Amino acid sequence: MQNPPLKDMESIDLYFFSGTGNTLLVVERMAEVFEVNGVPTRLHRMEDTDEVRLEPGAALGLGFPVAEQGTFPFVWDLVNRLPMGKGTPIFMVDTMLAYSGGVVGPMKAIVKKKGYIPIGAREITMPNNLFPRNVDPEKNGRKMERGRAKAEEYAKRLLEGKAKWGRVPGGSDIMASFSRSDRTWTFLRRLYDVHIDHELCVNCGLCVRLCPIDNIKMDDRVEMGDKCVFCMRCLAYCPKGAIYSGKGKKARYHAVEESRLLGKRE
Ligand SMILES: Cc1cc2nc3c(=O)[nH]c(=O)nc-3n(C[C@H](O)[C@H](O)[C@H](O)COP(=O)(O)O)c2cc1C
Repeated sequence: MQNPPLKDMESIDLYFFSGTGNTLLVVERMAEVFEVNGVPTRLHRMEDTDEVRLEPGAALGLGFPVAEQGTFPFVWDLVNRLPMGKGTPIFMVDTMLAYSGGVVGPMKAIVKKKGYIPIGAREITMPNNLFPRNVDPEKNGRKMERGRAKAEEYAKRLLEGKAKWGRVPGGSDIMASFSRSDRTWTFLRRLYDVHIDHELCVNCGLCVRLCPIDNIKMDDRVEMGDKCVFCMRCLAYCPKGAIYSGKGKKARYHAVEESRLLGKRE
């Protein structure tokens, strides 16, 4: 059975989060394809979104990075808080290094329960941004191009109603329970041990503006709170390399300039 084709929708609202730019590149490419095919598409940053509103005649899209085989708690939170779908077509896209065990199935279960029609889910491989050992711009560039080509192809399938939101893979609820559990993130905070080196920090405040969950504050000096979920933004973009993981100095990966990730916060 064919899904409702996106080309018949009046518009699309695509809510996304991108820590270091991979997901932004993917959703921007998808939005371009939708627009070229006559479907106006609005991109919304999840971190600037208090509440998702369903516009009449619009389909809904979700885009986010895979984290800990699932995704970040604030992404789960936004999806859990979606209004009732009343038959609204919905699609998702995630970007990842290699493997997401627990996100496609559980996301589908949530949106279905809310009365949306799940019309497509696609996982797109992009360069690793989680404490990479090294960053090879050429190799990463090729990977990004492949990722963007897949995004384009996926967007076209959605327009035609030919995409799929696959079945719930066995075990994925268990996998998803990791990234949905506070205990995982508490454990990771000890493991990753993200710090600010106050000798290097020049109080420029970029990290404060970049943090999607307002976990970094600046009074007399920059201080990190206890809610970090390692989206990698502050680590990737600190101009002085003053934010680091206790696990040792690692390469800093980012796919776009920081100005493209700063929305209303700018
Ligand atoms: C905290 C964290 C956890 C991650 N966990 C996974 C994972 O379980 N599987 C995977 O394939 N990639 C994982 N990654 C890699 C990212 O999903 C991938 O690099 C993604 O494209 C980053 O997107 P962004 O630049 O939009 O933030 C993880 C990255 C971070 C920061």
